[in-house]
Amino acid sequence: MGVFFKQLRAGVNFAAGDAVAKQMANYAYVIGDTATGKALIVDPAYAPGELLEITQNEGFEPQGIILTHFHADHAGGTLYADSHPPIPGIKELLEIAAVDIHVQNAEAEWLEKTTGVGKDSLRLHDSGDQIELGNTKITLIRTPGHTPGSQCILLENAILTGDTLFLRGCGRSDLPGADPGDLYDSLRMLATKLPADIKVYAGHDYDKDPCQSLSSLLQSNPVLWDMPKETWVRKFGG
Ligand SMILES: [Fe+2]
Repeated sequence: MGVFFKQLRAGVNFAAGDAVAKQMANYAYVIGDTATGKALIVDPAYAPGELLEITQNEGFEPQGIILTHFHADHAGGTLYADSHPPIPGIKELLEIAAVDIHVQNAEAEWLEKTTGVGKDSLRLHDSGDQIELGNTKITLIRTPGHTPGSQCILLENAILTGDTLFLRGCGRSDLPGADPGDLYDSLRMLATKLPADIKVYAGHDYDKDPCQSLSSLLQSNPVLWDMPKETWVRKFGG
């Protein structure tokens, strides 16, 4: 008995045929507790109903959603307030399933603007809060910078980093709500506080590998290198 974990590529493993999903290259994830059959889905944009079905077909009952951050390619809604039609996400999901939606406090007002889902429908968290999924404990770590309430999701030997950290580079810090100095602080925290052998799973498929160990990223990904904040912001901010 243990943790079930599945990485799903938008436009390939779900929402196949959705050109925006394919182009945006998002990952959704299913985390299941094999002892109790309960599961959480991470970032269910594009085809939330299909992600529920995938989770059920794996033998799990979806108990909740974790959002790494409010952007529409992760949560659904309007993508950067522009020309695309809204992306299906948590709003549509709540119409078909009564599930908890776990986000950081600092993300709530941004999420409401993007998806139309208000605070009343959310489970709001502070950094360090844990979600109990049967016998499995999942820790939510706030990592502001890409957005004010971006969060990383920590399992025993894996961390889901959303758009805070990619296998190559990191998320943008020039969009509304972003702060390059905060992103630097968040990445320094990840680089120095996590065990080196932990596996990093990002929010987008921007690399040939599905995941990499932190120790390997500390060598290959310069956004994790130790340098003064001013230097980092000049090189990587934006
Ligand atoms: Fe994002």
